[in-house]
Amino acid sequence: MDRLQWQAGLMEKTDALCEIFPAVIRNRWRQRLIYNAEKIAAYEGSSTVTDDILWRSVYEVFPSGYEPLILRVKDLEAMKAYAAASRDQEKLEPGAEPVTITRWSGGTGAAAPVAPGKKILAVNSSPRKGGNTDVMIDELLRACADNGAEVEKLYLGDLNIKPCSGCRACRKVDVKTICAVKDDMTEFMYDKMYRMDGFIAGFPIYTARENAIMANFMDRWDCFANPFLTRRMPGGKKGVVVCSWMWSNPVAYDNIVENMVILLRLHGVETTEVLTLSGTRGKKHGKGVVKNHPGILHTAYQSGIDFLHGL
Ligand SMILES: Cc1cc2nc3c(=O)[nH]c(=O)nc-3n(C[C@H](O)[C@H](O)[C@H](O)COP(=O)(O)O)c2cc1C
Repeated sequence: MDRLQWQAGLMEKTDALCEIFPAVIRNRWRQRLIYNAEKIAAYEGSSTVTDDILWRSVYEVFPSGYEPLILRVKDLEAMKAYAAASRDQEKLEPGAEPVTITRWSGGTGAAAPVAPGKKILAVNSSPRKGGNTDVMIDELLRACADNGAEVEKLYLGDLNIKPCSGCRACRKVDVKTICAVKDDMTEFMYDKMYRMDGFIAGFPIYTARENAIMANFMDRWDCFANPFLTRRMPGGKKGVVVCSWMWSNPVAYDNIVENMVILLRLHGVETTEVLTLSGTRGKKHGKGVVKNHPGILHTAYQSGIDFLHGL
């Protein structure tokens, strides 16, 4: 097959774009980008890689959390506008915030009766009580409680949850205790997790990933991976993942949320609903701005009902 042509000047643009990466990883990303752009062109029967194909390739290959970096090359004016919007967020009137909810399941509209007394455990790793993650979790829990569930919410930041010590006591054949670290996880959290029917995991994006409080908590689930564990997580548990971030691209951190969904499945919780909230700019650095958007709250409430019906 003949080598694909690149539109004049496009390879230079590709090189300029890849300057966003430090030299030690630049070539890896450049190769991925070129490979993918040429794959798109070949698939679409184009003999030339065009500007449009290059940018589609960028958005397919680069994690969307890199968008601020991408825009510096693709559209500097758009980047400046984003930066200004972020700077001026305290001037936004309530209700004018660019906040968007995305519901991944599409909803079930289920009307089946719900067995009362289902246990729903929610954890929020955001230290901002009354923040956006918190408000969303509260709507989900309100829907569950209104429909007969027993609900509980815990702020992970308020608990004594130590980092995994890496001792691997949980991996031993004759494992006696789920985890050797003595803290609130071994004191009561593992028990609550065994007993729950539904789990809600809420976290904000910090530095383009789940915040450290959530990452620390999830490390402590690794003990469930021991095949010799006598008290493995009972099957059949279902979950909702809630994630909020400030950047107004509604898919910006989907890869981080997907990681969480996969991690939960590895440890016995099947996520049946995801709610992501983007564009949480506004007064007080966007704290709780979702409260100014009744339509979003309604969606969260409805998701809670559907989640409960699916348990
Ligand atoms: C330390 C820190 C880092 C953050 N990093 C990002 C980021 O990389 N991308 C982003 O879109 N928002 C980022 N944010 C904004 C939060 O994700 C956003 O305000 C979110 O809605 C907070 O949720 P909460 O109100 O539940 O605490 C960051 C916030 C903090 C405090």
